[in-house]
Amino acid sequence: MLTADAEGEGLNRVFWQQEAQHLHWQYPFEQVVKYVEDGPRRRWFPEGKTNLCFNALDRHLALRADRCAIIHRDFCGETHPLSYRELWQQVNALSSLMAEWGIRQGDRVLIALPMTPLAAVAMLACTRLGAIHVVVYSSITSDALAQRVQACTPALILHHSDSRGRESLPTIPTTAENMRVVDTASAAYVKQLALHMDRHVPCVWLSSSEPSHILFTSGTSGVPKGIVRDTGGYAVALLASLRHLFNLADDEIFFTSADIGWVTGHSYGIYAPLLAGLTTVMCESSAVNAPGQNWWHMVAELGITRMLTIAGAIRLARRQGPPRASLTSLRTLYLAGEPLDESTETWVRDVMAVSCENHYWQTESGWPLLAGQGTALSAVFSRSAEVINPLNGEASPEGETGMLIIKNTLGPGAMLTLWQDDTQHDQRYWLQHRGQWCYATHDCAIRQGNKIVIQGRMDDVINIGGKRLATAEVENALGDLPGMVEVVANRTPHPLLGEMVALFVVTEALTSTQQALLKQEIRKRLVERCGRHALPRRIHFRYQLPKTFSGKFLRRMLLD
Ligand code: PRX
Repeated sequence: MLTADAEGEGLNRVFWQQEAQHLHWQYPFEQVVKYVEDGPRRRWFPEGKTNLCFNALDRHLALRADRCAIIHRDFCGETHPLSYRELWQQVNALSSLMAEWGIRQGDRVLIALPMTPLAAVAMLACTRLGAIHVVVYSSITSDALAQRVQACTPALILHHSDSRGRESLPTIPTTAENMRVVDTASAAYVKQLALHMDRHVPCVWLSSSEPSHILFTSGTSGVPKGIVRDTGGYAVALLASLRHLFNLADDEIFFTSADIGWVTGHSYGIYAPLLAGLTTVMCESSAVNAPGQNWWHMVAELGITRMLTIAGAIRLARRQGPPRASLTSLRTLYLAGEPLDESTETWVRDVMAVSCENHYWQTESGWPLLAGQGTALSAVFSRSAEVINPLNGEASPEGETGMLIIKNTLGPGAMLTLWQDDTQHDQRYWLQHRGQWCYATHDCAIRQGNKIVIQGRMDDVINIGGKRLATAEVENALGDLPGMVEVVANRTPHPLLGEMVALFVVTEALTSTQQALLKQEIRKRLVERCGRHALPRRIHFRYQLPKTFSGKFLRRMLLD
């Protein structure tokens, strides 16, 4: 990892200039970054022209056409490899068909497909044509889909009416004007596509800061926002992250467990491994592919070398006991997306015997902002991170909870803006701090020496008679109690203190006497680790807890 740069503003132009050389530019860039007026928005490599699909596929054909690009683990647990040449052919065929349907640069294409290579083909076909893809997660509800369609007004929706193990399929909106809806499970589609099978469609060269996609945030804490990402900056950032942060070799088989409708799926399930010419594993969600022994058998069978998932998935996997398959191929497990608790990390190191890295980032950033081992993390590359008191903007003293900010820029690959809403982008995410633009993460953090510990969203803080307690602090304190499987802390109103802690707990099978004992243990532990104010007002035992499609707890649904 690199240290803070000499410019002292979290921006190292020389570094990014060099990293950009690993990409194919059809037209070279002159400047590394350009500020949009005096505001917080940035354009990366603005004069350069490139294409994401060309960099992910075409440029690999000379040297690695026969290398496996995607290993698809389908919903029945069967494995299907796809080479770079085959993927390139399929992308060209779909691009050609989409061009025939009139899809042009700048059009939005909404992709509501299961986790099959077709979803990756559709994303790459869009970027080939310069169209903007909007991928939604495969388990999206009808309401959430309708909301996204209304927001991004797509010219085309690609969906798949065959359930492929998905529990329910959303209703596909068909009423909008100038919108084509195509069912990729239909015979008509298969027949049409067959006519384009050997076509070659040239890539459309886009200005580096033209949008490549919109991704709606998962929205655990509010209305989803359309994050708009560029083309060149994103590709440069992902490649740089693989080289310097993930330290990847040329033989890697990378498995990102997230659905492609989530940012992790976009960045490290599809684009980063393909841009680097590696092999990526796409695993369709189903009972036979669920976290646990099935995963460990898949790692052994496919020789997976790196794996990226969320801590909650490892907690689920733990319920099935130690891995019963060899994990010797696995070099590193990356955990991102929610606070990492000590007991999960210890299990990965001691029981899985795999090195474990904690990556903190957001849909907005597109790739990791902070990284490290354990919970105390450092800024990735030249970013300049600080914890401030959100009320007065002063730096928080060491050990005191504040808000994490990133000074000046998030770097290339972060959001350009919010879809059709520059004002909300500027106002929600950026603040002026000592004459400098700073990105507000809206996450609570504490500084530990020159490292940072993330505690959770700002709205995941409980105010107990003026004492602020992060839900993650409570959850961390309890994660390794015997019998505990999952725990979520939430706020509950209290007439005197304003708020108190309410706990929602999933345990192994316990008798009522054991439950009563566990409650005592919970109280004792919370007083020891967090103080008396953390004593919960109520403890609820649940069989399971509600989660988002990306595996995060839906705290809002857990009302006391
Ligand atoms: O609260 C932080 C939490 O997840 C949020 C971003 O979620 P999303 O937009 O879905 O992007 C996830 C990309 C991995 C953050 O604002 N978060 C993410 N990673 C961590 C984390 N909290 C603690 N530790 C992490 N490593």
